[in-house]
Amino acid sequence: MYEVKFKGSLKGTLRVPSDKSISHRSIMLGSINDGEVVVKNFLRSEDCLNTLKAFKALGVNIEDDGSLIKIHGKGKFLKEPFDVLDMGNSGTSIRLISGILAGQPFYSVLTGDRYLRKRPMDRIAVPLRMMGATILGRENGKYPPLTIVGKNPLNGIDYKSPKASAQVKSCILLAGLFTDEEVKVTEPAKSRDHTERMLKAFGVDVKVDGLTVSLGKNRVLKADMEIDVPADISSAAFFMVAAAIVPGSEIVLKDVILNPTRTGILDVMEKMGVNFEIFNKRVVSGEEVGDIKVSYSPDLKATVIEGDIIPRLIDELPVIAVLATQAEGVTLIKDAAELRVKESDRINAVVSNLRNLGVEVEEFEDGMAIKGKATLKGGEVKTFGDHRIAMSFIIAGLISSSSIYIDDIHCISTSYPGFIKDLQQFFNF
Ligand code: S3P
Repeated sequence: MYEVKFKGSLKGTLRVPSDKSISHRSIMLGSINDGEVVVKNFLRSEDCLNTLKAFKALGVNIEDDGSLIKIHGKGKFLKEPFDVLDMGNSGTSIRLISGILAGQPFYSVLTGDRYLRKRPMDRIAVPLRMMGATILGRENGKYPPLTIVGKNPLNGIDYKSPKASAQVKSCILLAGLFTDEEVKVTEPAKSRDHTERMLKAFGVDVKVDGLTVSLGKNRVLKADMEIDVPADISSAAFFMVAAAIVPGSEIVLKDVILNPTRTGILDVMEKMGVNFEIFNKRVVSGEEVGDIKVSYSPDLKATVIEGDIIPRLIDELPVIAVLATQAEGVTLIKDAAELRVKESDRINAVVSNLRNLGVEVEEFEDGMAIKGKATLKGGEVKTFGDHRIAMSFIIAGLISSSSIYIDDIHCISTSYPGFIKDLQQFFNF
């Protein structure tokens, strides 16, 4: 049990760790590239290190001097791994790497921890099978361990994705590098577009037309380049909410990614009346970044979060739910059924933990309604092995009337190994 003991206002400046999505992609695209890639500010969290290990096992020479990562790209064709590839807790690793392995003329097996082995893989297996790869898994190919027998070349695809999922879109685009035929993915709402941006930077023809992304003629990655990974807005989110709800707080978060497919939380903060300001906007390695100043916001108002904004803030919803407990009125979160198949069932995790702390919450299949102006009373929180549930409720513990005890904080290393230390430094002013 971890007792949240931090009390008082948050002050100071911090660069939160680098973006998880971009860190994964830098290793993946760097590995199948025909040149050398240096990654600055790579996120050394468990998830991203699992991606790095997997590409080493696929024969890629990747050096890490503790500061920079240097990837000696192997070109598109990798080496058959000698053992099962263990992706730990990482959904992004397993779903994206599957696209690359589908195009390799060899056999590979992917597994993960007990949480990842319960996450649905049919969303990528279905399109990859349409492209000609053999994908097997537990329960009729639905769950990991996955076995992939790749094919070269793959078939083309014109896929209407039933979900706004960057992992599905990226998996198909990566598999699409292994065919010359038409490759097109259309999603119901825009999901994060880091794969498209990075493929373009590597010289691949990528066309974006509204919600449709397609690959053009050149599908070879050939570039020597440096990727500087900006700070992750999904990690910044915890401190933005903390500063907004703890009286007297004022913090600055630096180099935060402001890619519009990721900034749904800022739109919600604006609507809810959070006091914040963005400055020093610039572009780093093809991604918009900026610094964000957030201060205590006593006049928060409830809001409705639904529709196309959901994929733009999907990972931030647990901590947005904590923010909603302090707003005037009832905040409604809808169209977010995807939360049920994240690292945990995040709807159930948030609702049950908030109720346990004395908040009035109604649960829906695709979201929740949170009654604001609540007094959080302290008590036990179950993380269900989910890093974002652990961090969200540590933030809740900053305003609870008595202590909050978190059952497992080890899971935080998935995305943010230094979270507790970084939180601590806001109180040492
Ligand atoms: C991610 C996409 C999102 C997100 C996940 C990271 C990515 O998942 O929730 O944390 O890096 O592509 P979905 O694509 O399943 O929505």
